[in-house]
Amino acid sequence: MAVTGPLEEVPLERLRERTSIKWRHFEPDVLPMWVAEMDVVPATPIRDALARALRDGDTGYGRGVGYAEAYARFSEARWGFAPDPAASVTVADVMTGVFELVRMVTDPGDEVVVTSPVYPPFHGFVRHAGRVVREAPLTPDARLDVAAIDDALAAASAGGSRTALLLASPHNPTGTVHARAELEAVASVAERHGATVIVDEVHAPLTLPGAVFTPYLAVDPRGLVVTSASKAWNLAGLRSATILAGADAAATLRTIPEVVTHGPNHLAVIAHAAAYDEGRAWLDAVVAGIAANHALARDLLQGSGVEHRVPDATYLAWLDLSRTPLADPDARADGGVVTDASRPSTALRAAGLGVNAGEPFGAGGENHVRMNLGTSQAIVREGVARLRAAIA
Ligand SMILES: Cc1ncc(COP(=O)(O)O)c(C=O)c1O
Repeated sequence: MAVTGPLEEVPLERLRERTSIKWRHFEPDVLPMWVAEMDVVPATPIRDALARALRDGDTGYGRGVGYAEAYARFSEARWGFAPDPAASVTVADVMTGVFELVRMVTDPGDEVVVTSPVYPPFHGFVRHAGRVVREAPLTPDARLDVAAIDDALAAASAGGSRTALLLASPHNPTGTVHARAELEAVASVAERHGATVIVDEVHAPLTLPGAVFTPYLAVDPRGLVVTSASKAWNLAGLRSATILAGADAAATLRTIPEVVTHGPNHLAVIAHAAAYDEGRAWLDAVVAGIAANHALARDLLQGSGVEHRVPDATYLAWLDLSRTPLADPDARADGGVVTDASRPSTALRAAGLGVNAGEPFGAGGENHVRMNLGTSQAIVREGVARLRAAIA
């Protein structure tokens, strides 16, 4: 039976005409399966909302908390929890929100704990903010290691320093959906150390069937969450996001400098709100396609020596190549490094497959690559074929 859905709509030759970084970073013969862009066109309600705004000249400055209001309706419908839009600030994008929160809740030179391997900008933005990264790596089965987080926060807060824990929920790159009990344990450990928990929930709408996503603010009123429709509806080029505060963190958010709120793009807010309110059926179809792609990749990788654990969320496949000929025995992870080349990723690029190297994700990223399956089944097949050819 022919596979259908949003991930199947754009043929490769049309994708190659795109000017976004995914399609322009590598040589033209490389199949790009790396940065977190999906190979879709935006849902019809999003295109309609943007067309209306342009037709009507609604192209001025944005105002208010309409972003968070739309998100709260979506969150209530999906997860039975509505954050308070009154305790929100619309910002330019997720990482701007994270960056500003880190600056607000810690002081220069303080430590911020991250759960490596994790999205490289977590390392890079913390360093750029003049803070120091302390890693509390995930367990070998890619779960939060609450004891390691406890130790890291104890060390980071020693001597009365302020500190924060920066979480990705669901986790990028492993796609782990943290269990409610894990988040509760993290919240209580953080409170004990006086640490602020900042949670990036941008991948949450991409939670796959069978997994249960828990909004962090549902378990911790001290928390601060940053989220956006940019991943789940592929709107990274339409930049906006929201910061949401738990009841006990709302006062912190009120002190956010005005300059930070100048970033969001009014048209982007319109697009993201349309996604949350009217893009739910489209999202369901994408999520079903992603689940099918992970299953397909797992099947195609059987017997290759590449380990692919089908995740609980999102389109990222975190592949362990340490038992393949591409493995580098001297590999050392270095979170946030600017260069994205490792021995495995360089060999794959030479074989015509563009993926993210694992090392910039930090501890545990050695000899891993991150492959983006937010695409058609034909591209998944071709990508895995190139991968298998490179390690044969
Ligand atoms: C976990 C995570 N946070 C943030 C971002 C980037 O979001 P934004 O472009 O809104 O800063 C990404 C993009 O891949 C991501 O995976």
